[in-house]
Order: sequence, then structure tokens, then C-alpha cells
Amino acid sequence: MQNQPITDHNSTDSPILVLGASGKTGRRVVAGLAARNLPIRTVSRPAFDWQLPATWPAALAGCRAAYIAFAPDLAVPGAIATMAAFTQAAARAGLQHLVLLSGRGEPEAEACEDLVRRAGPAWTILRASWFMQNFSEAFLADAIKAGNVALPIGGVREPFIDADDIAAVAVTALSDPARHAGQLYELTGPALLSFAEAAAQIGAALGRPVNYEQVPAEAYFAGMADYGLAPDYIALVRYLFTTVLDGRNAHLADGVQRALGRAPVGIDAYARQAAAAGAWD
Ligand SMILES: NC(=O)c1ccc[n+]([C@@H]2O[C@H](COP(=O)([O-])OP(=O)(O)OC[C@H]3O[C@@H](n4cnc5c(N)ncnc54)[C@H](OP(=O)(O)O)[C@@H]3O)[C@@H](O)[C@H]2O)c1
Repeated sequence: MQNQPITDHNSTDSPILVLGASGKTGRRVVAGLAARNLPIRTVSRPAFDWQLPATWPAALAGCRAAYIAFAPDLAVPGAIATMAAFTQAAARAGLQHLVLLSGRGEPEAEACEDLVRRAGPAWTILRASWFMQNFSEAFLADAIKAGNVALPIGGVREPFIDADDIAAVAVTALSDPARHAGQLYELTGPALLSFAEAAAQIGAALGRPVNYEQVPAEAYFAGMADYGLAPDYIALVRYLFTTVLDGRNAHLADGVQRALGRAPVGIDAYARQAAAAGAWD
């Protein structure tokens, strides 16, 4: 669906813009909106680039609403200024509803939430905890495959959430703005789990053991540098692992229940589905 840089699906009539449409949540939002036969616009680089504001007006033109998944993270330097300019551009373009994917426990993300709230269009905030899909569609997938997850994270517990639930809330909000406008949904899974417990549950679903090992933080980050990863990326990972994962998010929230009228999906069901889909083959 995302072969073209700016693509309208179903109809060109006042589409819903999905940013990050090839990402973990965006592609699920696209699928959910398409299932409801809603008009969708997907954009990809170079036609839309967060770093190039000149690319934004063409993407926004004529849209009724937007799902905003910022990349790489609302906590990176410059994200707040970018979000300030983008929300103003969206308001100028006449969008009526902005749905922001935000991160739990990040003050910088909360500053971006405020910008969305103040921009003018109706807003819905999805403040999400750690995605379960980090284990299957992101940097931890290879570790799960290898049966050994090594991170500089101790026993802190996180209420991992299924990206399917995040997308379901986004699709519901975008489908019924009147009901979901002005709502902040704090989205968590149904259980608090340490990373060791999460790895063990994924292993149980896979039918083979997945070991968890806590490694020293400085050695871990030095290893990332030796591997050639960019300093900006290492700084973001350090912030997420050491600051955000300090226990501040070790409590459950009711956003999924409030938005969807059902409980969030647990890691066992997620892991069984991901395993059946071949995520770790
Ligand atoms: N992972 C978590 O546990 C977690 C938890 C809470 C909140 N979040 C938030 O989730 C957001 C990321 O959403 P996601 O996980 O659904 O996406 P993702 O899987 O990280 O994919 C990133 C998406 O953004 C696009 N993108 C990357 N750089 C871009 C740029 N410079 N300009 C325009 N588009 C760009 C990518 O397109 P290409 O195909 O071109 O690369 C891709 O569609 C971040 O804001 C993060 O803070 C994540």
C-alpha cells in the first residue's frame, strides 16, 4: 500500500493522514481504517519528512484528521520544536482531529501532548507504555530468536502493551472523533512484567527457553558504539533504558478498557500470535 510517497486509499475525499504508516503502529492503523472503508492517506520519505517542514503542507492538504507517530521518539532533542511547527501546520491546513501517539513517563512527550492540545483541532492522546512488538518487530527480535535477551535493565516491571491495541484505539478515535475528542488514553497491557518475565512468557509461547540476562549498563552502551550505532541513537536508548525505565511506569492504566470497552491483550496471547505468524522463525 505504501509504494508511492503520497498515496490516497479508498477515496481522495478528505482522507485521514497516517504518519509512520510503515511503522509498528501506523501499518496497523492503516489496516484498521481500511477495514472500516475510511479514506486514508499514507506518506513516506522523501515526500514527507519530519526533518523537512517544506514537505508537510502537501501531505496535510485536504485531510480531515491525522494519526501522528513521530520518529524516532518525542524525547529526542528538537522533537518539541518540530511538533510545535507541525501542529500549527496541521491547524492551518484545516485538519479537524489530531491523534497523537505519545510515550508514557517522558516529560518531553508530555510537552508535545500539550502542543497538540493547544493547536486548535480536536485532539486525542494515546500515551503508550512499552510495545510488546519491540520483541518481535524491532531491535529485540533477533535476541528472542537466539534465545538470549541481554539488556542493562534489572527487575523493573513494565505494563507491556500490544501495538494491535494501540492501533485499535487510534482507529476507534479516528472513526468517532466526537466521542474521543479531548480524551487522554493511557494505554498499558493487563500485567506488570519484568523483562525476564516477558522473555520467559515469550519462550513459553515459542516452546523453547528464552533466557534473560542483565548486563552492565556502560558495557552495553559501549558495545552499541563499537557496533557502529549512531551516538544520537545510543543517547536515546540510554535515556529510555535508564531514565524512563526507572519504575515510574510500573502501574497499570485503564485506557484500553475506556476506549474499547474491553481488556487489553496479554503478552501470552501476543506471543502465541507472533510465534504463529513466524515472527521468530
Ligand atoms: N516502541 C515503544 O515501545 C514505544 C512506546 C511508547 C511510544 N512509542 C512511540 O512510538 C513512535 C514510533 O511509532 P511506531 O513504533 O509505530 O513506528 P516505528 O515502527 O518506529 O516506525 C517509524 C515510522 O516513522 C517513519 N519515519 C522514520 N523517520 C522519519 C522521518 N524522518 N520522517 C518521516 N517519517 C519517518 C518510518 O518510515 P520509513 O519506513 O521511511 O522508515 C516508519 O513508518 C515514537 O514516537 C515513539 O516514541 C514507542
